[in-house]
Amino acid sequence: MSNKKINFNSAKLTISAGFLKQTPKDMPHIVFSGRSNVGKSTLINKIVNQNKLARTSSSPGKTITINFFETDGKFYIVDLPGYGYAKRSDADIRKWSDLVEGYFKNYAKNNISLVVQLADLKVGATKDDMIMIDYMNNAGIPYIIVATKADKLNKTQREESINKLNGQFDALPEAARPKIIPFSSLSGEGIDEVRKNIAGYVK
Ligand code: GTP
Ligand code: MG
Repeated sequence: MSNKKINFNSAKLTISAGFLKQTPKDMPHIVFSGRSNVGKSTLINKIVNQNKLARTSSSPGKTITINFFETDGKFYIVDLPGYGYAKRSDADIRKWSDLVEGYFKNYAKNNISLVVQLADLKVGATKDDMIMIDYMNNAGIPYIIVATKADKLNKTQREESINKLNGQFDALPEAARPKIIPFSSLSGEGIDEVRKNIAGYVK
C-alpha cells in the first residue's frame, strides 16, 4: 500500500491506556519506542501533521501510559512511555516495566506490525536501546531505526554518527540489519520515509 492511500492527518487519540487490558486489538499496531526525551511524540506529531496530538515535553518521563491513536480506520499509532528516565521513582519504574513489558509480551505476536525504534543520532544506540533491539531480533518483531535530532550535527559529525550507528548492527546477519532513517523535526527530514515504511507494514 502506498502512503498516498493512508490519511495520516486523520489520526486521533483512542485511548491513553494505564492498564494492559485497555489495549485495543481491532487493528494492527505501529509502535514508537525509545528512551525518554528521544523524540517519539515529536516524530508522531510530524507524521500525522498535528502539532499537539501526541504531547511532547521538556519534562520527560512524566506520564506512564500507552497512547493509541487510531489512524484512517486502518491501524493504531502507539506512543510508548520512554525508558531510561533517571528521576523516576521505584514505583514508577515498576509501573513502566509492568505496562511496557506486558504490552510486548501479550501483543507482539498478533497485534504489532512494526516497531519504529528511535535513537538519538548523536548518542547512538544506548545500552537500553540495544536490549530492546536484541529483544526484537530474538522475538522476530519487524523494526526500523529512526535516528533523531539530526539537525544537531554538522555534515562531518552526521556521517560519523551514521557510520557508528550502522556499526552497532554489525553482529547481525546482513539481511537482518535494520533500515536507519535520519530524522529532524526542524527540517522535516525523514518524515516521508517513515510514512512510507509504515504504509509498507499496514495491510
Ligand atoms: P517521553 O514522552 O518522555 O518518552 O519523550 P519523547 O521521546 O516523546 O520525546 P519528545 O517528543 O517529547 O521530545 C523531547 C524533546 O526533544 C522536545 O523538547 C523536542 O522538541 C525535542 N526534539 C524532538 N525531536 C527533535 C529533533 O529532531 N531536533 C531537535 N533539535 N529537537 C527535537
Ligand atoms: Mg512522549
